[in-house]
Amino acid sequence: MATNEELRAVAAAMQRKAYAPYSRFAVGAAVVAGNGKVYGGCNVENASYGLTVCAERNAIAAAIADGQRELHKLAVVGPIPEVTPCGACRQVMAEFGICEVLLGTGENTREVMLADLLPAAFTKDV
Ligand code: THU
Repeated sequence: MATNEELRAVAAAMQRKAYAPYSRFAVGAAVVAGNGKVYGGCNVENASYGLTVCAERNAIAAAIADGQRELHKLAVVGPIPEVTPCGACRQVMAEFGICEVLLGTGENTREVMLADLLPAAFTKDV
């Protein structure tokens, strides 16, 4: 299983690939799947702003596209340490059982539970 540092390193590498010409707010994410592999994603913006997809959902999509259905931990790296996943990404994380989320970098690093970011989530098990 990847360490937190390895997960954050992949998220940071993904941040450098972000396509964010409109917001200039580059975000990277990385998620560990049940097979132990780490999948990354970055935000991909569009001239039609509402079509933007966040880094977290693109990382999750990469894991799903590789056949994974159970995801464990997701790391997010953004331009400011306060970046936390948006509501849509929190809901998608809940769908695939992600429990822990790594936020920030360096001394601002913190590990939070998805249940605290999205209490009383609506899921297929409700
Ligand atoms: N964004 C992410 O990719 N993940 C987050 O956790 C917060 C926001 C992106 C969406 C948009 O491309 C840019 O950051 C500004 O909102």
